[in-house]
Parts: sequence; structure tokens; C-alpha cells
Amino acid sequence: MSDIKFIPCKTLKEKPSDESKLGFGKLFTDYMFTMRYNSEKGWYDPTIEPYGPFSLSPATSALHYGQAIFEGAKAYKDAQGNTRLFRIKENIARMNRSAARLCMPALPEDLVYEALLELLKIEEAWIPKSEGTSLYIRPTYVATEEALGVHAAKNYLFYIILSPSGAYYAQGMKPVKIYVEDSYVRAVIGGIGFAKAAGNYAASILAGELAEKKGYTQVLWLDGQMHKYIEEVGAMNMFFVIDGEIITPPLLGSILPGITRDSILTLAADLGYKVSEKRLSIDEVMEAGRSGALQEAFGTGTAAVVSPVGELYYNGEVIEINKGEIGPIAQKLYDTLTSIQLGKHEDVHGWSIVL
Ligand code: PLP
Ligand code: COI
Repeated sequence: MSDIKFIPCKTLKEKPSDESKLGFGKLFTDYMFTMRYNSEKGWYDPTIEPYGPFSLSPATSALHYGQAIFEGAKAYKDAQGNTRLFRIKENIARMNRSAARLCMPALPEDLVYEALLELLKIEEAWIPKSEGTSLYIRPTYVATEEALGVHAAKNYLFYIILSPSGAYYAQGMKPVKIYVEDSYVRAVIGGIGFAKAAGNYAASILAGELAEKKGYTQVLWLDGQMHKYIEEVGAMNMFFVIDGEIITPPLLGSILPGITRDSILTLAADLGYKVSEKRLSIDEVMEAGRSGALQEAFGTGTAAVVSPVGELYYNGEVIEINKGEIGPIAQKLYDTLTSIQLGKHEDVHGWSIVL
């Protein structure tokens, strides 16, 4: 192992006894990985230490100007008891693309990978085993300079925390109801929408809360200029099945290039479906809903996996999709993806790492 320091816990927490009650992102394991940066030393003090609070100055730059990014990945236990990771190096590479956009120094990708494997080895007993559960991995990277000038910070903190989790949506695989937002926007081309930046989520919260009050689980964003084209949902990329074709919006800079999105595009093509990345207007989707051409809609994401959408609200009109039930294509893609992630299905693309 490289020079990752280890600080043991004095006492360990009790592990959850009922995996069906985990929820998402509520419990955290005993340890975390931390590493700091300053412009003179570069990255220093990589450490695995007890999970716990940080001491931060009230002038900490991330808290004021939002140089804050994160990632989301999962560790799974397979039937043989091995720990598995899915396309994890792509999360680390995406974090560096987010960092570049927010003018944050590049992370040492090999060290981050090594630190994660080391942390997972120590925390292996926290990986839940029941179906639909996993150990959610949250790498986080924030500016910590104590200064109020608006500029790229000189000091940073990177850390990884782990959370044993169940399904992201409380309803599990039951289709979610989505509110298509036609006044607020989340991101614009040229902005930071493609980065997994905290500010994108801050921009989304008000509309999300308003939609929830109306009985919708999440918001579907339209493009920031014309409020016309489908973008993505708060925590997942979107796919629509129209007249037998699986369509997802292209990566034009305002949506997150989801790793699950990319996996689903690949698997759908492998399975022989017609798939395309193209701009799709909300009017086309609603019209397809009215005519019956809209067969299915589903979102994809690490936390959301493949989540069917059973209802869309837009501009006073509601369309029900596939009678509010999960459709056969979403089900097939969910089964194929999760079988690969759990090592039950041949991993022809070499996406999984077995620890
Ligand atoms: N879009 C947004 C805004 C997200 O937060 C996420 C979750 O990470 C996704 C899409 C899906 O990305 P991925 O499949 O890489 O998890
Ligand atoms: C993930 O799917 O990993 C995410 O980061 C979504 C999150 C906002 C819960």
C-alpha cells in the first residue's frame, strides 16, 4: 500500500440488523478517507480515519462560492460473498472533469482508487447483502480556503464516505410520478450542468419541493433556453420508448453524462433494441402520450438504477404511461444491468471489478 495513514476507531458502531429498513444515505460506516490539498504542497495526508465531523472556518470558500463537487457509486456483495464495483474508474475520471470545470486541482486518480479499495476492505462488513441494497460510495471534494475573495481556492479537502443503502425511491420499483418543470431551470449549455457540482442540486431544490407538494416524486427539467427540450431528472437521466425506439437526450453540456445512462445505451443496443441519442421536445413526448405511441419512460442513475416513470404532469395535463406499471423494456434493462453488477451475468464489457 502507498502512504495512506490509518487512524483506528476507539469503538465501532452497531451494524444495522434489518436491511429492509436502510433507506438511502441515512447511515454511515465507521471510517472515511480524507486527503487535503494546498497550492504549495499539492495533495497531502491521505488518511483513513474514524467517520466524524470536520472543523471548518466560517469563511470556508466552498460554503460561500460553491466550489463543491461529489460522485456517487456503489459496492455490492455477490452470491459468492465477493465485493464488486461497477465502472468505478469512470466515476473518478468524471470527478476530475467536474473539478476542471470548477477550477479545482485534479485529483490523483490512482491514489483515490487505491484509497477507496483500502476503505472498502476495512468496511467490508458494512456492505448489505439483500436484494436491492448496496454500500453507497460518496466521494466529495470541496474548497476549504479561509478567504472571502471570489477566486479559485488554494486549499481543498477530498473525502470518501460510505452509506449502507436500499432503494433511492421509497416506492422501490413502483413507477414514479414526475412533474415537468416549465418555469424554473436547472442548468444551461455553457454552465455547470455536466459537472456533478453541488450548485446544480441547489438550483433544483425549490422546484423539487413544489412538485412534491403536488404529489410528484421528482422534477423533469427542460432546456434552459427554450423550455422545450427534455433534459434530465434531478438524480437520473431520462429515456423514453416511443414507437419501439428508446430515446435519450444527447450530452450537450447541460446534463450529467450518467454512467448508468451510458451502460443502458450499450446494453439496449446489445439486446437488439433501436436506441438513439437525440433532442426530444416535451411536446413530442406529450403527443406520443396522447396517441399511445409512448410505450415506456424510465430514468437511470447509480442511486435510481432503472426507475420506471408511470405518470408525467406538464402544463396542466397528466399522461399515464404504461398504465402506471413498469414496462417490459425497463424491466429487461433493470434485470440485465443488475445481473452484471452482481456478477450473475457475463460482463462482456469488463465493467465490474471484483475485490
Ligand atoms: N443526472 C443527475 C443530475 C444525477 O445526479 C445522477 C446521479 O448520479 C445521474 C444523472 C445519473 O448518473 P450516474 O448514472 O452516473 O449515477
Ligand atoms: C447518484 O445516483 O449517485 C446520485 O448522486 C444521485 C443523488 C443526487 C442522490
